[in-house]
Amino acid sequence: MALLARRDDLLEALCEEINSPADEIRAIPYVHDVTDYDSVPGLLQEITAALGGLDLFIYNSGILIPSGMKHFEFEKDRRMTEVNYLGALAWLNPVAAMFHRQKAGQIVGISSVAGERGRVGNPSYNASKAALTCYLESLRNRLTRRGVHVLTVKPGYVLTDMTSGMKNLYFAISAERAAADICTAIRRRKQVIYTAPIWWLVMLAVRNIPSIIFRRLSF
Ligand SMILES: NC(=O)c1ccc[n+]([C@@H]2O[C@H](COP(=O)([O-])OP(=O)(O)OC[C@H]3O[C@@H](n4cnc5c(N)ncnc54)[C@H](OP(=O)(O)O)[C@@H]3O)[C@@H](O)[C@H]2O)c1
Repeated sequence: MALLARRDDLLEALCEEINSPADEIRAIPYVHDVTDYDSVPGLLQEITAALGGLDLFIYNSGILIPSGMKHFEFEKDRRMTEVNYLGALAWLNPVAAMFHRQKAGQIVGISSVAGERGRVGNPSYNASKAALTCYLESLRNRLTRRGVHVLTVKPGYVLTDMTSGMKNLYFAISAERAAADICTAIRRRKQVIYTAPIWWLVMLAVRNIPSIIFRRLSF
């Protein structure tokens, strides 16, 4: 597998953790910023050549920059949109084209329950995840007929750097638990999953709260 992120020390350490016990190279690190859109096609070619092909692609990169309720800041919104959505488009378009050609492959996008309603807390984070969810659905509808599977993952709260210091993390799960749910969904070729699964029920209720009530809530 190829692992991509910006922090090379963490990336190297993770690859080492995977490769050492196996006593062979299973994970190759690539330092990359998903907002470096122009480098994506070349890097995809390089990775595909190094791995000898590609059958699974996971877009996980995402940032949440907290913003106060009275703040409306374009710069923060742009950064979240670029990493959470535009970076996804930069990668998933060429990957989709490749899988379309080879009539096989699986795409996984890590979206969020946050994309299901426009809540007061983080408008552009919510919007970036709503856009990603919608884009993944379109990809699925386009690619299913070519034998390509697209999985949308909607996590609730997961205990990672992103949520560190946050309060009221209802139904929070570990990153390992979320990863296990995602692996199971990949193997079972699911289309959409919530992790933890309880969020399916929670979001069913949240989606149906009328606006007259929803706009008075403070979450
Ligand atoms: N934690 C939650 O409760 C939660 C809930 C719903 C959805 N999610 C989603 O789950 C995904 C993973 O988030 P997390 O909770 O694991 O947060 P995290 O611990 O902050 O991890 C974010 C990941 O994204 C990478 N990343 C950020 N900016 C990047 C960039 N410009 N280019 C390349 N990689 C970049 C980071 O690596 P580098 O910094 O090294 O680049 C890191 O691997 C995100 O898409 C997030 O929106 C999380």
